[in-house]
Amino acid sequence: MKFFHKSVFLEKAVELLNIKPSGVYVDATAGGGGHSESIVKKLSGAGKLISLDQDPDAIKFLKAKFKSCKNLFVFEKNFVNIDEVLDELKVDLVDGFLFDLGVSSYQLDNVSRGFSYKKDAALDMRMSKSGFSARDFVNTACEKKISQVIKEFGEEKYADSIARNLVKSRSEKSVETTFDLVEIIKQSLPQKVLKSKGHPAKKTFQAIRIYVNSELSILEKTLGLAFKRLAPHGRIVAITFHSLEDRIVKKKFTSFSSGCCCPPYFPICTCGKKPEAILLTKKPLKPTEREIEENPRCKSAKLRACEKIFSK
Ligand SMILES: C[S@@+](CC[C@H](N)C(=O)[O-])C[C@H]1O[C@@H](n2cnc3c(N)ncnc32)[C@H](O)[C@@H]1O
Ligand SMILES: [Zn+2]
Repeated sequence: MKFFHKSVFLEKAVELLNIKPSGVYVDATAGGGGHSESIVKKLSGAGKLISLDQDPDAIKFLKAKFKSCKNLFVFEKNFVNIDEVLDELKVDLVDGFLFDLGVSSYQLDNVSRGFSYKKDAALDMRMSKSGFSARDFVNTACEKKISQVIKEFGEEKYADSIARNLVKSRSEKSVETTFDLVEIIKQSLPQKVLKSKGHPAKKTFQAIRIYVNSELSILEKTLGLAFKRLAPHGRIVAITFHSLEDRIVKKKFTSFSSGCCCPPYFPICTCGKKPEAILLTKKPLKPTEREIEENPRCKSAKLRACEKIFSK
């Protein structure tokens, strides 16, 4: 199987994980295995890399790619189930987690996965290839819900108009394909937006993908779970591709690294909270001009990292 994905921040992410040869690492979003490959090369002896992905296509590819690799363990799992995986492997603490979020180029470019507004295919967008699909969402959700999702996860100004047109259109014929949806979106936007730069369906497709895969709620929960399983001096490195994801990572890392959270008008601290982490990136890292030239998809990428410190 062909599985094309050019890894973003390959060297930087692995450098920031500060790999110890006998450490335990989790690549929570292994995809095409680019980061996993760089990490596992640095391990020896009891060193372990646990590579997860929720996409069965990615897992098939990863199992074949790393079949003779004794230090690497591949799991078809959503990363929100990280505790289950670590317990199964009898791993207590982890030295580093990598989250390279969003979808892989393989998922976007493989027409049959129904993620892309550039290619006509059955509307799907499920990373795990199971459960509730984008097709189910656009044909069953009420207008208010559709508008809310497009507004919240796509930051689309014309969400109300798109939702209204979608509900009207599906009452005549169900929405089956990516191009059915693109057409409805195009009919809902004013000429000035249709003529402007960027694809008119980009925001709506992003919103529906985030909703169908519960990406933001799962990310927020998992960062908390991962931090609990981090060993002292263990690190979390997270690569995001849009502002909604980055906001969650920033907020979580800031809360791990903050002390007292009492209201400012309290005369003394009653919460007793001490910083549990340091930020390794005060400002997020961004790709260089050259990296963007070589891989235009990384244009919006941001990398943040934090390290757990002894606190309790
Ligand atoms: C940007 S790609 C990762 C590419 C990878 N770092 C590489 O170098 O090839 C993101 C991958 O994360 C997976 N993914 C996204 N959310 C996930 C989740 N909640 N649980 C498990 N895998 C997830 C996707 O299926 C996709 O394969
Ligand atoms: Zn306090």
